[in-house]
Amino acid sequence: MNFPVRFARDQWYVAAYGSEIGREPFPRTILGEALMFYRTRSGRPIALADRCVHRRFPLSQSHLDGDNVVCGYHGFTYDPTGACVAVPGQKRIPRTARVPAYPVIEQDSFVWVWIGDVEKADPGRIPRAPWLDQDGWTTVCGMEPLKAPYGLLVDNLLDLSHETYLHGGYIGTPEVAETPIRTEVDDEQEVVYVSRHMEDAACPPFYSESTGIEGRIVRWQDIEYHPPCLYLLHSRVAPTGLLPNQDGTDPGGFHVEVVYAITPETESSTHDFWAVARDFALEDEKVSDFLRESNRTVVLQDVVALDTLALALGIELGIEREGYQELSINIDTGGLAARRIIKAQIARGDGARNEYGADQVVAG
Ligand code: FES
Ligand SMILES: [Fe+2]
Repeated sequence: MNFPVRFARDQWYVAAYGSEIGREPFPRTILGEALMFYRTRSGRPIALADRCVHRRFPLSQSHLDGDNVVCGYHGFTYDPTGACVAVPGQKRIPRTARVPAYPVIEQDSFVWVWIGDVEKADPGRIPRAPWLDQDGWTTVCGMEPLKAPYGLLVDNLLDLSHETYLHGGYIGTPEVAETPIRTEVDDEQEVVYVSRHMEDAACPPFYSESTGIEGRIVRWQDIEYHPPCLYLLHSRVAPTGLLPNQDGTDPGGFHVEVVYAITPETESSTHDFWAVARDFALEDEKVSDFLRESNRTVVLQDVVALDTLALALGIELGIEREGYQELSINIDTGGLAARRIIKAQIARGDGARNEYGADQVVAG
């Protein structure tokens, strides 16, 4: 079966925050596949195709019976492996009566799902964001739906010079656009690093209000992008002149880990997960509220810009750029490296599709 290869299917993607999934069926479309999630009684997250094999009723509109899902239309019942264990009106259950089940791993507060070839699903390859779920850090987070292809969000996050223009008054200051970046690519591990170190910069409200620093700052932005899904921005701010100690300790610095998970919903829409973890003012609810509100505002500024861009381009884009011209400069080196890696991931194979069985009638 052919389907568009605009996604790297043999990769782990963030499907949800762990807190979103419980004992109620939960729908979410990932890479164009309608999935439903729930937890077993022991708390294990499960992902099944969200279409009953009988007449394709969404299983997310059904209910749980213990660890099983009972279709809300005619009662086909599925266990956590997707196997049908009961059908109405007959004892015999067709051998092909099953829905696809997808590998799922819960880690660092995220639920990760694997859409591609099940044989290749290696949980050891899931990139880490430990701060989101670790002592010594406090996290605020959210998810905004984006009506733009994921490739536009990759571009957006890899080039933070836009902070100066799109996010002025929140996180943007003139120094962000003025300061050159350093880009490094680890092709073997498939990681893109983009660094911008500002040694004497204005302190934007996002940091002045959360840290209490008055005056100018050292501001380091160190991006670590693990294509396709996980983006980490290691951010350090401190009063100007205050650098980490020789041994790497940094008691005078304020550290913020800004984490994005970029998960395609369809070819033309994206789940934009964002989280902000900090190692200061851990118990301060006011700081949490401020950072949550500020970062959400910033993300929504990006959402508006990218929705506008997608509409203006008028074409569905994955990572490919066809049918129009664009000009890249130094600030785009990270984004271009990211596209190259995602294209290579796509080219390595599109993964086996979880096939539905053919139409069958089986008498009891
Ligand atoms: S559609 Fe699910 S049981 Fe009929
Ligand atoms: Fe932005």
